[in-house]
Amino acid sequence: MNAASRPRGKTMKAEENDLLTRTDAGTAMGELMREFWMPALLSKELPAPDAPPARVRLLGEDLVAFRDSSGRVGLLDAFCPHRRAELYFGRNEAGGLRCIYHGWKFDAGGRCVDVPTDSCTPAQMQRLSTTAYPTQERGGIVWAWMGKGEPHALPPAMAFTVVPGEHTYVSKCLMRCNYLQALEGSIDYSHISFLHKEGETSSDVFGIGDMIRYSDEDGRPTLFAERTDYGLQIGARRDAGAENAYWRVARWLLPCFVIVPTAPGNVSRINLFIPINDENCWWYRIRWHQDRPLTAAELDSYRDVGEDYAPLVPGSYLPRGSRENDYLQDRALQRRASFTGIRSAQLQDLAVQESQGRVHDRSREKLMPSDMPIAQCRRMLLEAVRSHQSERQLPPSASRPELFGGYAFAVTRPRRMTFDEVRSSL
Ligand code: FES
Ligand SMILES: [Fe+2]
Repeated sequence: MNAASRPRGKTMKAEENDLLTRTDAGTAMGELMREFWMPALLSKELPAPDAPPARVRLLGEDLVAFRDSSGRVGLLDAFCPHRRAELYFGRNEAGGLRCIYHGWKFDAGGRCVDVPTDSCTPAQMQRLSTTAYPTQERGGIVWAWMGKGEPHALPPAMAFTVVPGEHTYVSKCLMRCNYLQALEGSIDYSHISFLHKEGETSSDVFGIGDMIRYSDEDGRPTLFAERTDYGLQIGARRDAGAENAYWRVARWLLPCFVIVPTAPGNVSRINLFIPINDENCWWYRIRWHQDRPLTAAELDSYRDVGEDYAPLVPGSYLPRGSRENDYLQDRALQRRASFTGIRSAQLQDLAVQESQGRVHDRSREKLMPSDMPIAQCRRMLLEAVRSHQSERQLPPSASRPELFGGYAFAVTRPRRMTFDEVRSSL
């Protein structure tokens, strides 16, 4: 589908906005998301067996994660089933997490294994179990299954989850807004010509020099979106000299994952936008190389240069730039050298996406043809939520982890090639 041939997108109704943005237990989108494995936290947040536990809030639920003595990760209701003290303060020891209030102990499967205050029969102990969600570790992330019954499949087989660990860099950053507006920013291919103008990076370790050059030259890309079993394949075509076109071909993986285009042979990128609750999400920002370990220069550029990743408050996953300090915007820099005056590409995204409101109200927008992929994504999500709500129908990718395994490329091709021809040439 070509954006130029479409009318303007339809403005969303307030109730549709609610349907897509609310993810607590019992909401329609919350129930759909619980049909997928979701990232709960980074593996390195639980660095060793019996390490201190971590607080987790995911899809509006308060949880506690711990790595037991055997290395297995437990993800339990945050509050002890006895009298609801927070298990985060507990002792992680000898195969379980022990509440510090009265000493009850739970294993990674949520079973109550010790009640030192009372004598209990095995049957009584069983009734004292707590909510526990299955977990699996892949690609430096602890994935959680919060659905009903047994998981449909293994966690998503994204390419970064199957390469050796030293090929991958995984981090996360808090966004103080709903997951959907964060996700929409990642499939918005016209903003690159503006928000990230001269701001993405001055070096070219990501192989995105072409993106900066052609996005500057052509601020009106022609957009395409093709429905697939995993979500959408999205193309943005820009003129690149007299003979060629510069294509960025991304993948949106339903419900909230995006494979970002990069030049073939370069470091690949993926974004996961995971609801903490309706007003906050984690942006998991992943870099990986298919064929080789990441170099020291690449790793340094992700960690501390501040041109690509938003600098974090040390020892946390909170960005240093925030609404309170105007995202460290430098007005002199904005006049002189940068479209935004905000120094890192990620922080530029945070500034505009958080500014849309904690939960962006889509009923007040004016959509244009350049927003076509976003309108398509919303439509597909609405369809998926409604058919799950009415008939318990699942998107194909919920039971087929291999559908998450593709790539997204930025390439230059002869001008005459169509979107389909470019897709099949990748
Ligand atoms: S509240 Fe946890 S053991 Fe009593
Ligand atoms: Fe962006």
